[in-house]
Amino acid sequence: MSSDPLHRAFGDLLSKIEREHGFRGALYRQRCLLRRVAVRMRARGLADPKEYALLLDSDPDEYNELLRVLTINVSKFFRNPDTWEVIRERVLPGLAERERPLAIWSAGSAAGEEAYSIAILLYELLGGENGKGLKGISIVGTDIDRAVLEQAKRARYPEVALSETPPQLRQRWFSVREPYRLKPVIRSLVEFKRLDILASRPEFDADLILCRNLLIYLDRKAQEQVFRMFVDVLRQGGFLVLGRVEGLARPVRRKFEVVSARERIYRKR
Ligand SMILES: C[S@@+](CC[C@H](N)C(=O)[O-])C[C@H]1O[C@@H](n2cnc3c(N)ncnc32)[C@H](O)[C@@H]1O
Repeated sequence: MSSDPLHRAFGDLLSKIEREHGFRGALYRQRCLLRRVAVRMRARGLADPKEYALLLDSDPDEYNELLRVLTINVSKFFRNPDTWEVIRERVLPGLAERERPLAIWSAGSAAGEEAYSIAILLYELLGGENGKGLKGISIVGTDIDRAVLEQAKRARYPEVALSETPPQLRQRWFSVREPYRLKPVIRSLVEFKRLDILASRPEFDADLILCRNLLIYLDRKAQEQVFRMFVDVLRQGGFLVLGRVEGLARPVRRKFEVVSARERIYRKR
C-alpha cells in the first residue's frame, strides 16, 4: 500500500479491525476495501479515517455496519442458475454414487442461501420418503461473519434472496409470504459454524466445496493459500465450485480436471 498519510490511516484502521474482530483486511484487495470504508465515512460525513476510527470506538452499530460492508455478504438461493444446472446434472450424480458418508462444505456461506440450495437439490434427488435417503450426508456452511451465521440459522429471507429460485422449488420449500421461511426439513440438513478460511481449515474432509464470490476479494497470495487448503480438504474425486468470475490459481491447476470451464467447476484428480 502507498505510504501517504491517507493510506497509512486506512492501514491503521484495518489493523484495528483485525485486532478487535479478527477480519484480516491486509489479505484482501486493498482498493476494494478502501472503497467500502470510504462509502461508510461519507455516509457518516467524515473525511478523516482517524476520526472515523474514533467513531468506531463509540458507535457499535457503525462498527457492525462497517464489518457488514467489508465482508460483502450478499447472496441468493440458486445464484447463477446455469451453475446450479451443472451441479444438478454433473456433480450431484457423481456424489450420489458414493457408498460412504458425504461431506459438503459451503465456504463463505453468507446467510445460508448456498448451503440450503444444495440441501434442497439433494433432498429432491435422494431424499426419498421424509428425507431418509439423506442419511450420512453432512452439509456445513461456514463464514467469518457471526451476524450472517445467525441469519442463516433463522432461515428467513426477503424476496430478493429468492429471485433466482425456480418457482416449483420456491413453492415446495418456502412459506408463501415474506419473510420467506425455509421448511424445517431442509433447515435440519445444514449446520452453520464460524470459520475464517484464511486462518484455519474445517475439521472434516469434503466431497464437495462451494466457495463462490469470496476469493475474488482476496489478494493473489491469500487466494493461493486458500486453494492449497482446499486441495488438502477435498477428497480424491471431490468437486470444487467457484464463482462465475473466479478461476483456479496457477499453482493448483494440475491438481484438478475441469468439469465445466464456464461454470468454474473442477474435480480433484
Ligand atoms: C459475497 S458473499 C458470497 C456468498 C455465497 N457464497 C454466494 O456466492 O452467493 C462472501 C461471503 O464470504 C464471507 N467471507 C469473507 N471473508 C471470509 C473469510 N476470510 N473466511 C470466511 N468467510 C469469509 C463474507 O462474510 C460473505 O458472507
